[in-house]
Amino acid sequence: MSFRWQRYCAVVNSKVAKWAGLTNFALTMKQIAVIGGGTMGNGIAHVFAQCGYAVNLIDVKQEMLEKAMATITKNMDRQVGKGTLTEEQKASSLARIKTFTQMADGVSNADLVVEAATENIEIKLNIFRQLDALAPAHCVLASNTSSISITKIGSVTSRPDKVIGMHFMNPVPVMKLVEVIEGFKTDKTVTSNIIELSKSLGKVPALTQDYPGFIANRVLMPMINEAICSLHEGVAGVEEIDTIMKLGMAHPMGPLQLADFIGLDVCLAILKVLHDGFGNPKYAPSPLLVNMVTSGDLGVKSGRGFYDYGHGTKDLIVAPGFTKN
Ligand SMILES: NC(=O)c1ccc[n+]([C@@H]2O[C@H](COP(=O)([O-])OP(=O)(O)OC[C@H]3O[C@@H](n4cnc5c(N)ncnc54)[C@H](O)[C@@H]3O)[C@@H](O)[C@H]2O)c1
Repeated sequence: MSFRWQRYCAVVNSKVAKWAGLTNFALTMKQIAVIGGGTMGNGIAHVFAQCGYAVNLIDVKQEMLEKAMATITKNMDRQVGKGTLTEEQKASSLARIKTFTQMADGVSNADLVVEAATENIEIKLNIFRQLDALAPAHCVLASNTSSISITKIGSVTSRPDKVIGMHFMNPVPVMKLVEVIEGFKTDKTVTSNIIELSKSLGKVPALTQDYPGFIANRVLMPMINEAICSLHEGVAGVEEIDTIMKLGMAHPMGPLQLADFIGLDVCLAILKVLHDGFGNPKYAPSPLLVNMVTSGDLGVKSGRGFYDYGHGTKDLIVAPGFTKN
């Protein structure tokens, strides 16, 4: 979606809300804090800044903030090259992003915090305890978690009614979906505000309730796990499994390539949440997945998973150990 179209959508949404006489807090949210400058955090900061929001990007590591700004600049350069963003829009978008290593400095004026830190429950609960103490009382606290309970996250704050899931997809500037997850105590007005806000980013929000894996990962992860089990049992090879799902089901990527892209450690962590949360053996992670994660084969980020990425991600080369000879 072009920048002009995104702004058009935001203006139309605002007019519709005014016409309907809604008191729409979403449209008055101006200052956004993003926690975590990794894969997802930099994409989330990119999209908010491009859509006119002021963004404070916060990470405990200065080098991650520098890497995040370099990635956002590179991705905006690509948009300029494609003609979907002008040089002026790129410059003004980048100028809207400030970086911080101290949470207190970055969230003190926030209307909305989107947390995109490491997928680890202790880290997230600790962050939300701090956010509750440091962010203004009106501030909505959203998490981009792939699988951790929003209700659990909300329970460590004094404002569970203002805690919600805002699950962006990777790569954030490209993917249209925001899975909005309503915790057990989330206020309905907060939910509708986050839905409106997501639309103002040119995204398509879809609402789910807070149960393990929500919808995206509850449906996706068993498919990935089944592909890994089939490989482990020797039913078909890596290329065959991915080809069958790409050409037979019109998936843009096969499940094994997608698992490499997501990160095999992340897939394993989500399967464990599904397995623990539902107590159903159908979610038990494949022993092959467990072995790969234990040995450090995590997919694209470690250079090897089901495919070998020693030469980048463009050419798909099956990893040694999964080749047929
Ligand atoms: N990677 C994906 O495809 C994907 C897709 C959807 C959702 N998610 C979710 O998004 C979140 C982030 O995932 P990611 O892939 O960007 O992870 P990542 O490892 O790339 O980045 C996490 C960042 O969080 C920072 N961090 C850790 N503790 C922090 C703290 N206390 N305060 C501030 N920053 C802190 C780290 O330094 C790191 O830069 C996770 O909850 C993940 O489940 C990931």
